Amino acid sequence: MFVKIERDYDAMSARGAQIVAEVVRQKPNAVLGLATGSTPEGLYRCLIDIARQENLDFSQVTTFNLDEYEGLPAGHPQSYHAFMWEHLFEGLGLREEQTNLLSGIAADLPGECVAFEQKIRAAGGIDIQVLGIGGDGHIAFCEPGSSLAGRTSVVALHPQTIADNARFFDTEDEVPRRALSMGVGTILEARSCLILAKGEGKAQPWAGMIEGPVSSQVPASALQLHPWTIAISDTAAAAQLKNGEYYQHVDRERNDQPVIPPWIVDPDLDPRRQFASRIESVDG
Ligand code: GLP
Repeated sequence: MFVKIERDYDAMSARGAQIVAEVVRQKPNAVLGLATGSTPEGLYRCLIDIARQENLDFSQVTTFNLDEYEGLPAGHPQSYHAFMWEHLFEGLGLREEQTNLLSGIAADLPGECVAFEQKIRAAGGIDIQVLGIGGDGHIAFCEPGSSLAGRTSVVALHPQTIADNARFFDTEDEVPRRALSMGVGTILEARSCLILAKGEGKAQPWAGMIEGPVSSQVPASALQLHPWTIAISDTAAAAQLKNGEYYQHVDRERNDQPVIPPWIVDPDLDPRRQFASRIESVDG
């Protein structure tokens, strides 16, 4: 995991946006995995700015979102559909058919989850997955105890998540109790992951994700198993990292490294694939 500590939210957002922009510069038909929540709002603002300033073309991009609340139609103001149009899709001028979000009101919710996985596969897989982290260590809506091999499914929200997300609703009772969410296994298949955290309220799960044991109790810690995850936070969220100074040293020493993995452009370079094909050639 590449751990980056930025001085504040704006610097974190700008750095994150540069990484996503680089994916689109190198691969104009990139598949972007996207997240909701207050954390990525700044990244999305910066990305829209970059697109306008550089005339960066998003017309061939495909997007997939991590999750959606059960029971909220796309037009509901607190739905993740509405969030994405307000904070990113409109600003980038995306067409609806470029975007993919789970439907929280599908008649067959498990079927919706399977169809979503099929769509990701048909699109060629996710090139970069943007993520935030929940106060309880969740990613997407994969709550503590989620299978680290889990696929997209209907999940029950943790009471802490319901309480955390109540700020977006008039009352806590209005927060849906269930959601549809990519699984940790789905997320780990992305070619790269970019996870963000801001504020002292994320310091504990952030340290658990980076320095704690890989555990379903902190689903974000599964990212330790991913070959190319960039974790960017502000200083407040990094406050409980034991090796914070070392990560900053590594960041300075490695600033000549590419910011995205070479296997986004050439999937055969993915170490997960290379290893498999080397084993096959030994077998054969
Ligand atoms: C929700 C989303 C997560 C997000 C989390 C954190 O639960 N499902 O994807 O990471 O909120 O939200 P925030 O960024 O507002 O702290």
